[in-house]
Order: sequence, then C-alpha cells, then structure tokens
Amino acid sequence: MNISLKGLSILQEAKALLLPVFEKEGIHGESYPSNLTEILEKKATRKPFEGKKDTLSLLSFYEGELPETLILVGLGKKEDFSLEILSSSLAKGFQKAKTEKASSLTVDLSVLEELFPFEKILPVVGKTFTLANYEFIKFQREKEAENRKNSTEVMQEIYLFSKDEEQLLLLESFLAEGIHEGLSICIARDLVNEPANVLNPSTLARAAQQQGELFGFSVSVKNEKEVEDLGLEAFLSVGRGSKNSPKLIVMKYQGNDESDEIYGLVGKGLTFDSGGYSIKPTDGMLTMKMDMGGSAAVIGAMAAIAKQGLKVNITAVVAACENMISGDAFRPGDVIGSMAGKTIEITNTDAEGRLTLADAVTYAIEKEGATRIIDIATLTGAALVAMGKDITPYLCTDDEMAQNLEKAAEHSLEKVWRLPAEKSYLELLKSDIADIKNSGPRLAGTITAGLFVQSFTKDLPWLHLDIAGTAWTDKKKDLCPVGGTGAGAGLLYHYFKLLSL
Ligand code: BES
Ligand code: MN
Ligand code: ZN
Repeated sequence: MNISLKGLSILQEAKALLLPVFEKEGIHGESYPSNLTEILEKKATRKPFEGKKDTLSLLSFYEGELPETLILVGLGKKEDFSLEILSSSLAKGFQKAKTEKASSLTVDLSVLEELFPFEKILPVVGKTFTLANYEFIKFQREKEAENRKNSTEVMQEIYLFSKDEEQLLLLESFLAEGIHEGLSICIARDLVNEPANVLNPSTLARAAQQQGELFGFSVSVKNEKEVEDLGLEAFLSVGRGSKNSPKLIVMKYQGNDESDEIYGLVGKGLTFDSGGYSIKPTDGMLTMKMDMGGSAAVIGAMAAIAKQGLKVNITAVVAACENMISGDAFRPGDVIGSMAGKTIEITNTDAEGRLTLADAVTYAIEKEGATRIIDIATLTGAALVAMGKDITPYLCTDDEMAQNLEKAAEHSLEKVWRLPAEKSYLELLKSDIADIKNSGPRLAGTITAGLFVQSFTKDLPWLHLDIAGTAWTDKKKDLCPVGGTGAGAGLLYHYFKLLSL
C-alpha cells in the first residue's frame, strides 16, 4: 500500500473519500475547498453528521459517480483535539473503507490545517495508515489467495490532500518518517506473530541480520559454544532444555561519533516460554511465542533508528533462547552462575526472562562498553495485573531518562507509567543458599523482577520496560489485529529521536 501527498485536484478522482469532522463544526466548514462543498451540498444533506468522537457515517452513492463512498469520521470537540484522537478516527475510517472493499482512499486533512502544524500531523497520519493496514495472513492460504485474485478490492493507495496544497506538498519527509515508524512496528508485529515452530533462536537471529542489511546496522551472532566461553551461565541455563540452541544476537548502530555514550539496549528474546519445570497451565502457555516481544521491539526500533539516521550510538543485545523441559533442563532448586559472577538460586524456572536479561546486560557493559542500559521485556504477569493491556509499566534509576521516556510516549502514542525502583524490595529476592534468588513472593512482582535485572547493571543509569501486558492483544483493534502489537518499537524510536535532536 502506498501513502502519498496530493494536490487538491485529487478530489475530482476520489472514489472513496475520508473526511474527518469536528463536533459542531459541520461538514460544510468554510475550510473546505469549494468543489468539495459542492459535492457535499448535493449529497450529504439528509442527515447531519455531528462529528462526535468515535462516530462514523458512511454515505454510498451511485456506481461510477465520484466519490462512490464518503466516510465521515468524528474528531470530537475541537478544544479536546489530540494526535491520539486523530489516529484512532483515521484508523476507524480506514477499516470502514476496507470493509467497503475500496482499493484507494482519499483523505482530506483540511480541517486540521489551522489547528496543528502538519509537521506533527503527517508522521501520525503515515504511521496510522501503515499500522491499520497491517495483517498477518501468511498461514491463511485462502485469504492470501483471495487477496491476490481480487487485488482491485485490496487497499492499494492512500491519497492525502489539504486546502493548502503548496504547504502540504513540501512535507513529504514528515509523512515518510511516520511510514517508517509504522513499518518498524510492523516488523516487530511480524516477529511476535510468527509461531515458535518457525521463529526459534536461530531464525530470530537471521531475521535480525536481514533487518540489519536492509536498514544499515551491523549484526553479529554468537553460538552456544561462544556464549559458554564468555560465561553467560544464567542465559545458557534457561536455554538448556531446548533442542533449539541459544543465540546471542548483537546489533550495533553508531550514529554519533562525537559522543562516547553507548546505549546498551537489551530485549528479552524467549522464542517460547513453557515455564520449564515450573510449567505453565495450557491457557497461560498458549500465547508464549510472544515472549520475544522485547527483542521484536528492539529489532523494529533499530530499523527505524538506522533508517532515519538518528545521532545516537546503540548496541542492542538479545539473549535468544527457548524455555523448555527435557532431561537436561534446569530445575527448581538449582544454583547457577552468571556472567557477572553472582550465583542465583532458581526458585521458579518460569522466572526465566530476568536470567537472560541479567547476562545480556552484563555482556553489554563488559564486552560492548555500554554506558547506559535500557531493557525491554515481556517479563511479568504482574505487569498485566497492575496496568492492564494498554499501559507499559517502567522502572528507572535516572530521572532524565524517565522524563525522556514520558515525552517519547506522548510522541509514539504509547502509554507508560513509572513504578518505584524501591531498592529495599530486593530483600524479597534474598536467598539462603546463593547471592540472589530468581523469584520472590507474588507481591510487587513487576518491581522485584526489575530490581533483579537492575542488580546486574553496575549502577549505570537504567530504564526497564515491562511489556508483558502491552505486547499482545486478544482483541482486534482498528490499529492492530489480534496478535503482536509491536509495543515498544515506536516508543524506543521516539526515545532515541528525542536524544538526537
Ligand atoms: N513470560 C512470562 C511473563 C508473561 C506473562 C508475559 C503473561 C506475558 C503474559 C514470564 O517469563 C513469567 O513467566 N513470569 C512469571 C514470573 C514469576 C514466576 C515470578 C510470572 O509473571 O508469573
Ligand atoms: Mn516465564
Ligand atoms: Zn517468559
């Protein structure tokens, strides 16, 4: 699907027309070009559309008469306008056009002209349509074949226009940025949606390599033997029960030679989490192919960061493995080592993510010279309990990083909420037999999981995102089908974009 900026004349050819409308402003607002007003006056006068938020009206006209389809979406009150409202209303309109089998959609952005600079609108518009168009149908053979056969009924083109066409047509790069961000989120979604019999540590590594080649960051992959020589015992313990051997994926992007700051960006990469001997019940295990959502966000973000040439230095590390059961798997009660030298009592083999993160963080610091750490992981069910499916809880030891994340969340339209990195809670992970244990009681589960990771950061500035709730949706949304959401990819992109301004 292409998304492009067009001059006003595109209106004459519009088959399906999408019109965002503010509440009480009516659809004959003076801001519309006169030829559009004519169309509307002729055709859309029967029942006034009120423009309330989250509402939609569809008007169909005669075949061959243009536009054949007019979709009105409500933006709500002008004074309450936000980019989030814009995004959700455009997505709603897009889905309607898709069910109407429109192959192109022409979108009038004129009402937004005086309200918000197009430099801010266009990235959101590009991202919105890119995400709304996402589907994962490679295993739905019939649907795929049907799409190919009826290509005229599949959305091919989005045309954007506005009253001030001269201004709009100069802003191509802002639209492109939004599209790139959207595509990077789609990369993350694809990786999460891929089932675990297809996406294992080696195919995940290959996928990272492919994205690196496409977008311009370097990727090196270490095999089990090399990882063993480096001493990542905690990581290897988690992966030991699987036939699919672990891989340490290291991705590097250097966009700022003048800075010696290197961000260590660590993504959890459990291509499947059965729980191990602390086995999960069937329902809990069903979606555990998504347990590499952190690594998906990292790979997606790296693609967008490299594509946009951001001025930052990042070394991303993914300790990819599968938490399975076998005669060789690690057990509850085991005491294992770690790259940092700390010993860990395994009190629950299902608290495996933090073990892989601990060694990945140590590797990023000791071998790659990371000066700050960000980790992102589908880490705790407690994150879901605390924040639900729409808000990512985070912990942070550095207020500046936290502030930057909050800003990035605004820009990416993801939602985050800070939890305290309450050091005294480390008490809950005290072991009688080792330096630390890998799981505590249920209380404050998201915080203790974070603190476990933090205890491996050598007190570097640290930011920790728990996307267990946000990485996956069981409900179809206008912006996302059931499955991986790509949570974190856009957020991380904007985090680093803000740093490189
Ligand atoms: N991958 C899970 C966390 C998870 C749960 C992600 C639900 C997405 C949805 C993680 O490895 C896990 O099992 N965590 C345990 C930790 C506990 C044993 C301390 C949990 O949250 O129950
Ligand atoms: Mn687990
Ligand atoms: Zn897990």
